[in-house]
Amino acid sequence: MNGLVRVHFKQCDSTQTRAKSYLSKIRPREGLVVSADYQSGGRGQLGSHWLSSEGLNLTLSMLFTPQDLDIDKRFLFNIWISQALVNLLHKKLGEQKIRVKWPNDILVNGKKIAGILIQNNLRGDKLQYVIVGIGINVNEVMKTYSFPATSMRSEAGRSYNLNELKEELIGQVWKTYIKGLQFPEMQLFKSAYEKLLWKMDQKVSIIEGGVKKTCRIKGINKIGELKVKIDGDIRLIRNKDVTFILNED
Ligand code: BTN
Repeated sequence: MNGLVRVHFKQCDSTQTRAKSYLSKIRPREGLVVSADYQSGGRGQLGSHWLSSEGLNLTLSMLFTPQDLDIDKRFLFNIWISQALVNLLHKKLGEQKIRVKWPNDILVNGKKIAGILIQNNLRGDKLQYVIVGIGINVNEVMKTYSFPATSMRSEAGRSYNLNELKEELIGQVWKTYIKGLQFPEMQLFKSAYEKLLWKMDQKVSIIEGGVKKTCRIKGINKIGELKVKIDGDIRLIRNKDVTFILNED
């Protein structure tokens, strides 16, 4: 993927913020990659922080400017990037149980190994640009957070060259995106994504409005909302409404 422009920082606040700031300043080409050895203000989903020790993991953001993609297809990015990460991790870790916890946390054997942050900008009913932030725990031995976490090193018992891995990741993401754009229809990707879904058709515990409930994950609808069955009824879940309990097998 040599045609893609890359910017690398030893340290920055957040590659996501940097990628966005380039948009207003230099009108970068699609495929711009901004990476860092260390982020002082790494950002996670729903306003959380993304913590990653200096020089041990991958933290990067990529810019996409799809032409003519309706906003109701924006979940395709969640799917494509998740697929790219799962493929890369299978290549590197072998036949482990790698799953996507909706909407796009990547779990290996039930523990979070990578996170994806997707920020869209809309123009009318089209996507104008999409900034995809990816954090993969690579060589760090993870501490215990409020959820179980792991790294490639912990799973494979060896460390990885970060530059090589970064290039493979960029290549995998770009390939999946370009291929996906040929027929960007949710129904073409939905079932492949559901095959990767953590706890698909199984029971999980969630916390909703401070109350713990049990539900069964039933897949996604055509705009990527999660379908769950609670007390016999199918309901749609939005990411900010619930917390899934991970460490309950
Ligand atoms: C999550 O799981 O909450 C998403 C984590 C996304 C982290 C990446 S690291 C590179 C990019 N820059 C950021 O500030 N966040 C994303």
